[in-house]
Amino acid sequence: MASVLVLNGPNLGRLGSREPDVYGSQDLVALEALLVADAAGRAEIDLRQTNDEAELISWLYEAVDTSTPVILNPAAFTHYSYALRDAAALVTKAGVALVEVHISNPHARESFRHTSVISGVATGVIAGLGFGSYRLALRSILDL
Ligand code: DQA
Repeated sequence: MASVLVLNGPNLGRLGSREPDVYGSQDLVALEALLVADAAGRAEIDLRQTNDEAELISWLYEAVDTSTPVILNPAAFTHYSYALRDAAALVTKAGVALVEVHISNPHARESFRHTSVISGVATGVIAGLGFGSYRLALRSILDL
């Protein structure tokens, strides 16, 4: 079965207890269950989280090497990691889909969140819909 990598950056391992007013009260286990149900056997959901930029970059190399589509929530790396941007560009330049997602709407928050260095190399961007951002990203990847 085809896989979809669902990659989550720093502090997203604390979903559920982290700023629930911004990110909701559900954790990554709940997100994985939602996506597995949505995939309905059409794809295997491989959900991962790391606080480590190097590890996230190595997972993007893995996506390139295995042609596995990616749903990426780069979290705070979104706003400043050119290293992650360059790795994301490797994915999309290889013809593999990479959809950038955010739980909150960064444009409605502090000004430093208004810049994404990832969006310019992503296949698409979905933000502000809670876990719905991931669900729509999965739907678009399954439809591609
Ligand atoms: C986030 C938004 C980022 O600005 C923030 O640093 C995160 C989460 C989101 O999903 O809304 O950690 O990517």
